[in-house]
Amino acid sequence: MTLAIEATDLVKEYGDVRALSGLSLAVERGEFFGLLGPNGAGKTTFINTLVGLVRKTGGEVRVFGDDVEDDYRKVRNSIGLAPQEFNVDRFFPIREVLMHKAGYHGVSEAEAKRRADEALELVGIYDKRHTRFDWLSGGMKRRLLLARAIVTDPDLLILDEPTAGVDVQLRHDLWEIINRLNDEGTTILLTTHYIEEAERLCDRVAIMDNGRKVTVATPEELMERGSDTITVELRDPPASAPRLDGAVTEIEDVRLEHDRLVVRVEGGGGRVAPRLLNALEDRGHEITDIEISRTSLEEIFVELTEGQRGEVERDGPERDTLEAY
Ligand SMILES: Nc1ncnc2c1ncn2[C@@H]1O[C@H](COP(=O)(O)OP(=O)(O)OP(=O)(O)O)[C@@H](O)[C@H]1O
Ligand SMILES: [Mg+2]
Repeated sequence: MTLAIEATDLVKEYGDVRALSGLSLAVERGEFFGLLGPNGAGKTTFINTLVGLVRKTGGEVRVFGDDVEDDYRKVRNSIGLAPQEFNVDRFFPIREVLMHKAGYHGVSEAEAKRRADEALELVGIYDKRHTRFDWLSGGMKRRLLLARAIVTDPDLLILDEPTAGVDVQLRHDLWEIINRLNDEGTTILLTTHYIEEAERLCDRVAIMDNGRKVTVATPEELMERGSDTITVELRDPPASAPRLDGAVTEIEDVRLEHDRLVVRVEGGGGRVAPRLLNALEDRGHEITDIEISRTSLEEIFVELTEGQRGEVERDGPERDTLEAY
């Protein structure tokens, strides 16, 4: 089966800036794929190469098997994009904006009107259909971008930070809408700075930094890579932390804090906890309470991208600038 997106050694240079630096990435058909990374990682640049807004410097990108530059029209017609920046004709009633968009993709006028109404209905701003874009509230503008992205019934829906700055209610509404579209078979590429969003929605996420892929994994796999902390409260705390690493091999660190033993373990704390408790009981400790705190995707994300950043800072000009201040 052909992939929805296949990028190989993709490079984009803006003068001296290397926004994409040999990015290779494969997104499967029907997948809900997240693209995470700090500001300037190259996420929007990557998206823009897919839709023909940016011409790559090197490498190859295909969407449903078609080259994004050689088969530009075909590729463009298969993608719906809700961009990071608002780029809507401000003066037109929003229903017309959607009809223009559908018309541009070859949809007849009657059908365009039907789809525009349906899309506005879906994102909950149908009653604003005669309002011009710049009179919408910020959240309504985000909703309109989503409506415009889906009005052509795309096979690949790309959402570049669709929930930036929107309220909790709208965020949940948007999640529901895009989840439903994904259930119906639409492939989704989502960039976000809300780790919780990626964790909830995405089948897999790629973490990007400095124009490159750092890793690709399911949110669960990423969390497995972190360390969980098991805190055990003991009735009679010992004078020093007991040695447990022989009994429980996943232990990375044990600290004694008053009557509590704080144990950092590799991987899932839930899996390790029963053995840890047995080992403690075998050593004569009485346990009065236990708490497991899981690493969040956010911590893993920071760890993965900070490592890279650290290297850049050590070698790069940023260091000098920082010291100069
Ligand atoms: N049109 C442009 N001209 C010059 N440099 C650009 C241009 N667009 C992006 N860049 C640079 O390319 C790099 C990647 O930017 P990009 O917008 O792709 O990042 P991003 O991952 O989307 O970040 P954010 O999370 O802030 O949206 C940055 O260093 C940026 O300054
Ligand atoms: Mg961006």
